[in-house]
Amino acid sequence: MSRSAHPAGPRHADVLPEGHYTAPPADLNALDSKVWAQTVGRNDDGVVTVGGIDVKTLAEQHGTPAYVMDEDDFRARARAWRTAFGQDADVFYAGKAFLSRAVVRWLHEEGLNLDVCSGGELATALSAGMPADRIAFHGNNKSPEEIERAIRAGVGRIVLDSFQEIVRVAHIASSLGKRQRVQIRITVGVEAHTHEFIATAHEDQKFGIPLAGGQAAEAVRRALQLDGLELIGIHSHIGSQIFDMSGFEVAAHRVVGLLREIRDEHGVELPEIDLGGGLGIAYTSGDDPREPHEIAKALTDIVGRECEVARLRTPRISVEPGRAIVGPTAFTLYEVGTIKPLDGLRTYVSVDGGMSDNIRTALYDAEYSVALVSRTSDAEPMLARVVGKHCESGDIVVKDAFLPADLAPGDLIAVPATGAYCRSMASNYNHVLRPPVVAVRDGEARVIVRRETEEDLLRLDVG
Ligand code: LLP
Repeated sequence: MSRSAHPAGPRHADVLPEGHYTAPPADLNALDSKVWAQTVGRNDDGVVTVGGIDVKTLAEQHGTPAYVMDEDDFRARARAWRTAFGQDADVFYAGKAFLSRAVVRWLHEEGLNLDVCSGGELATALSAGMPADRIAFHGNNKSPEEIERAIRAGVGRIVLDSFQEIVRVAHIASSLGKRQRVQIRITVGVEAHTHEFIATAHEDQKFGIPLAGGQAAEAVRRALQLDGLELIGIHSHIGSQIFDMSGFEVAAHRVVGLLREIRDEHGVELPEIDLGGGLGIAYTSGDDPREPHEIAKALTDIVGRECEVARLRTPRISVEPGRAIVGPTAFTLYEVGTIKPLDGLRTYVSVDGGMSDNIRTALYDAEYSVALVSRTSDAEPMLARVVGKHCESGDIVVKDAFLPADLAPGDLIAVPATGAYCRSMASNYNHVLRPPVVAVRDGEARVIVRRETEEDLLRLDVG
């Protein structure tokens, strides 16, 4: 059931966006700016370039497969979120989408905060110089060691996810002689996906404390009583790859309702609310994501309106976009290995990576597009399925895509919008080595996460 239970799963696939292609695109050589990073184009020879470098050079210097990340695009998207929300709100980039030390430095320089959800992400953030007070620590089962490290480091907030954790964090903070700033993550009974949201019975999952049955109110009551905690706000995250703002509207309404209850019962107006992440991006030309300034306006308006009705001071808002910042900034560059036409069905195009570098297609039925990038072609379109090199028939990277019929082994193809949840969910299945992340900018390519080597694999295998 994992497939149907996941936010980005088949419900997404069931509700295909209007205009989703079922016929070949008019021009196979075109690169839709919706799905490709901002500096992507073709040079005079028809070779795709990004950040001023062409993909043949990148493949020669860094090998394939490789994630190629457009640094200017990353910075521009981070800045756009920061600017859209302004000084009265905070943007926490969700590190789970993709985290590396270079990315932490870019975020720091662009004025964003960072959401981490494990000791490993915290270590990466701190080692790259993110000030601890700009870090939020998440997770439904943080270990006591992780909690202690986070408190000692001085993280800006810990997001409490259960009744046990309220006591655990309070106890550890007190024993360190500290008072930890915390938020409580609640589940508001809304679960949202790409094109729809459902506002009933979604407490049936592992995150947060349900608003239903007064549980969230009880959690607040307990947190307010504990010396080791400074309760600064309420947190809600309703799902992933969301285009429709109405789920946020219901969530904000319910969170503000709780803030009012808290004021009425305890005489305390909590100063912050966090509405989580989950804003959608374009994986194919059929997707139409919102711009950060539209999202900021919609969220700020909703919270402002709800607070006015409840006669509450408007709290400081924070959001946690991951995918919406990093997703569109990278593509995965592959070399075509074998091509297998299956008469009357489709042509299987095998590349030198697969489900180990992009598990999203297998796991969530995710949709991607693909293009021939080492040259242009005037050949007829052929219906293709891009598959990997793993020993598994579900090893599919792009389920249905049109590629030119003269595609040949040695051609380079690229799958756009792989910046989020591809490297961060990559595996060593079949002992395949995880690809590097190569950042490009102003004609220079810099490896920010190097390719794994067989020595790396063997170092873990202690015999
Ligand atoms: N904040 C919280 C508390 C979250 O749990 C998440 C994602 C985010 C922010 C960031 O969501 P984003 O803006 O990136 O959608 N592996 C899945 C996505 C899992 C998301 C988990 N939580 C995928 O590949 O689609």
